[in-house]
Amino acid sequence: MYDDKRGLAFTASSQAAVDAFDDSIDEFLASGRDAAELLKRVSEADPDMIMGQVLRGYFNLLPSHAHLVPLSREALAKAQSLAAGATPRERMHVEALAAWCEGDIRRMNAIWDSILIDHPHDILALRIAHTMHFFLGDLAQMRDSMARVMPRWDESVPGYGYVLGCRAFSLEENNDLARAEPMGKRAVEINENDIWAGHCVAHVLEAQGRRQDGIDWIDGHEAAWQKRGIFARHMWWHRALHYLELERFDDVLAAYDREFWPEPFADNIDICNASGTLMRLDMLGIDVGDRWESVADVCAAKGDTRLRPFNDVHYMMALTKAGRHDAAQALLQTMRAFADEHTDGTVTLAAIYRNAGIPVAEAIMAYGAKDDARVIDIMMQARYGMLQLGGSWAQRDVWDQMLIHAAIRDERHDLARVLTAERTDMAPTSAPSWAMYGEALEKCGATAKAQTARARASALRSPRR
Ligand SMILES: [Fe+2]
Repeated sequence: MYDDKRGLAFTASSQAAVDAFDDSIDEFLASGRDAAELLKRVSEADPDMIMGQVLRGYFNLLPSHAHLVPLSREALAKAQSLAAGATPRERMHVEALAAWCEGDIRRMNAIWDSILIDHPHDILALRIAHTMHFFLGDLAQMRDSMARVMPRWDESVPGYGYVLGCRAFSLEENNDLARAEPMGKRAVEINENDIWAGHCVAHVLEAQGRRQDGIDWIDGHEAAWQKRGIFARHMWWHRALHYLELERFDDVLAAYDREFWPEPFADNIDICNASGTLMRLDMLGIDVGDRWESVADVCAAKGDTRLRPFNDVHYMMALTKAGRHDAAQALLQTMRAFADEHTDGTVTLAAIYRNAGIPVAEAIMAYGAKDDARVIDIMMQARYGMLQLGGSWAQRDVWDQMLIHAAIRDERHDLARVLTAERTDMAPTSAPSWAMYGEALEKCGATAKAQTARARASALRSPRR
């Protein structure tokens, strides 16, 4: 038995194996690109270290790639074969991995949260529970999971900054922006590599519509974050969202081409960045050229294994907008088949497909077919169930925008007026939102109010206010 740097006991054949495990966890916490590579050193040091196998299982499921799923099952089998000699904490991790492989994500999250009752310094359980609560849109669980352990952490415990960053992000997504911002900034001060904490601050600035602050925040840390893995490109996406809200569309397209989709990527974070951006631009009438094509190519190659409805609806936007109707239809069919196949309540995502993924996917297809009445019909209800798709408020917002654009295109002026009134209330610094509100008011004959809304839009196009 050997301890990690936080004093947790690990079943391993040498301290070198546990140290290698710590290195891999550190890289994972910093969203680094080498976490899986570093994990290989654990196997080299001790191929029978049970937590090494568990971590291999987790790493192969986290990115939602079909080709990695068998590797996680293989790791699970190996971990199960080693469980007899393991500690109760390690056995709970094996149980969590088994639940994940079976699709019972809520049970898995509950297992990690119960590990944290007795082992609040189990930073792997903590970080991965945080990620997977977010994955399900379980925001209260994400907030509480962190709040429960915070009193057991301080700057003397290695990794404290990462924990603070997670706590900050859980507050941000729960709209506690005032507490989240300084906490996220403090975590970045502790360790600039903590891109997840930096991302929390980016979300606060996005939610508050502080456009120039948001751009400056990312510009200011670009050199450090560029060295992070895939997640860095999501930060450039965040910066482009500010450009978009300032109606700097050329800058959005330049960022798309140079920063977050310079070439086709198979990773789901990249696909979501690309698909969400093109959809936003497309809805605003900006010509995106043939950019949908390469995103659709990657989405079409994803295959029939359904792993995350949030990703699938992003695939659906690309396939639909690139005119790949057969592939879009096939995707919808596999989503339906997944929901129909798992009806006993143990496969967490089945209900999410049924209640949110499939309706939003159908609305996207209807939007592509210009069947705006159907988009409105679906989304007026579905929008309130979208939280369970997971992802952030900023990411899911694209489908709220789709509803508004459908109302405008369908000349449902009264509906467009109330939806844009709602939007300007929620996002009072969004120039495109005020412009749409102005347009809707004009169409409804409220000329004076339309003028005021348009004036607001034009004032907001200047970034320094
Ligand atoms: Fe984000």
